[in-house]
Amino acid sequence: MCGIVGVVGHPQAVEILVNGLKRLEYRGYDSAGIYLQDHQQLVKAVGPLKALEGKLTPEINGTLGIGHTRWATHGKATEENAHPHTSEAGDFILVHNGVIENYRELKEKYLSADHFYGETDSEIAVHLIAHFAKESTNTKEAFKKALAVIEGSYAFGLIDASDNDTLYAAKNKSPLLIGLGAGFNVIASDALAVLDYTTEFLEIHDGELAVLTAASVQLEDACGHGVKRESFVPEIDSNDLDKGTYPFYMLKEIDEQPMAIRRIVKEYLHEGQHITPALLAALKEADSINLVACGTSWHASRIGAHFFSEWVAKPASALLASEAGYRMPLFSAKPFFIFLSQSGETADSRQVLVRVKELGYPSLTITNVLGSTLARESDFALPILAGPEIAVASTKAYTAQIAVLACLAQALAPKEEQIDLAHELSLVANGMDSLISEKETIAAQADQYLATTRNAFYIGRYMDYEVSLEAALKLKEISYIQAEGFAAGELKHGTIALIEEGTPVLAIINDPVTASHTRGNIQEVKSRGANVYTIVREDLAQAQDNLQVPVVNPLLSPLVSIVPAQLIAYYATLQRGLDVDKPRNLAKSVTVE
Ligand code: M6R
Repeated sequence: MCGIVGVVGHPQAVEILVNGLKRLEYRGYDSAGIYLQDHQQLVKAVGPLKALEGKLTPEINGTLGIGHTRWATHGKATEENAHPHTSEAGDFILVHNGVIENYRELKEKYLSADHFYGETDSEIAVHLIAHFAKESTNTKEAFKKALAVIEGSYAFGLIDASDNDTLYAAKNKSPLLIGLGAGFNVIASDALAVLDYTTEFLEIHDGELAVLTAASVQLEDACGHGVKRESFVPEIDSNDLDKGTYPFYMLKEIDEQPMAIRRIVKEYLHEGQHITPALLAALKEADSINLVACGTSWHASRIGAHFFSEWVAKPASALLASEAGYRMPLFSAKPFFIFLSQSGETADSRQVLVRVKELGYPSLTITNVLGSTLARESDFALPILAGPEIAVASTKAYTAQIAVLACLAQALAPKEEQIDLAHELSLVANGMDSLISEKETIAAQADQYLATTRNAFYIGRYMDYEVSLEAALKLKEISYIQAEGFAAGELKHGTIALIEEGTPVLAIINDPVTASHTRGNIQEVKSRGANVYTIVREDLAQAQDNLQVPVVNPLLSPLVSIVPAQLIAYYATLQRGLDVDKPRNLAKSVTVE
């Protein structure tokens, strides 16, 4: 979702802003803009960053600037609604990420005489700062007064048009970091945006305000007290951000899965890193495990819930954060909460974490970004070690989350339930490798089964049902084929009515116990004309099956059976000529509720 970059004190401010916004493209956006203070130049464009770049001339330059990519929430994707926004007299310029919940009240109370160009809540914020500037001695004071009355989530970058040396920033519930440079400083929604310019970062916590010049950074809390904080160096290599020879990040990230699993085996199981005695003690103390997540991470949580139920005999369930945030279910006496989030910034999940903390329950975040909001705010954090995931469709984060959950559940498991997880996960990594080497076959099959269809169904039972949910999400979010994942036995309770001549039904069969039942469901849909494609465990395969997956531990089978489904989604999308990495309407990091 929206991305922010700001810079003060660097002669190549335009380059930093544009490159930074490019690095944030993966988050999703539909318009973009930059403002350069030195010559007071504001440039905005709807559509891809190329459109903005096309408007940049060599005369547009300076040392102080802010940039923004906008994913429309309040108001359409238009230049008027694109950021940066200016106050009525043009004396303040602002970029915003988040949602100002009380913008209507603020407009009525303070800004009833103002004229607005667009429809965004963000424009209210910059007008509000200008309003308070009239009764303040300086910009910081005006900014603080505005922050005190704004309700909701925000990351702000602010420039005072009469000051060529200062960049202001503030955050609440939306991500924002300060990057410390030599003779310059930057702000960014994500460290990835500015890694080419600095590797040293400073967190801004919720409610804090920052004043940056080329040579200094001052942080203060909502009460105006100065804050001293250690800087940190994120564990990201800017080389990880390049596609290399791959046409799309998604394909690169699918291919990186075996490597991520081997890294987890090494760090979690061979070197015994990450899972601390304190975390294990807190988990042992709990009488239930509640996994909270959205989208693909929720699908991984559902698989994790099986690990805790089956290996640890602890009641475990996966909660959809976007639902639990509004109505928390009834919990056991001593619940433990595990948040799963690739980005660590998902607002729906954070909303639940805030509530969980208010209730005094212990929490762990399993994430790809250890410096993220969810990781910082929960009691414990575990990395999934997948490396940056750029494609909107999550692939390696799903399998890495499941592998880390397996490590955690096995660390808690009683002796009789313990398996040689390092060995089992190594088999998984090898199995992934062999499936990845069948790309050409899978591409041809995707073409054969999905080239012209408007809808498709994935079916499976038990762990195969869990994979069906994720397989269908992958297919629909990038190819726009309406795809649904079903528990195979549920089809005949309603959905089978949708099966007609040629409807693709993709069946996953990994579980010896339920294999014959799923085969029965295949017959049911075949006799109604379905075009059935089967992904089947090697030792359960029959002559007519389409693709065989290697045998692994049954509970870990989603880690291998998802790989062909990811590749099917990738190739079906490619064949339709769509942008695999940046599907329409979607954002990588969903930072609004
Ligand atoms: O960063 P998170 O894991 O919290 O994101 C959760 C979902 O938004 C995410 O998994 C989404 O469903 C992806 N587009 C799936 O590919």
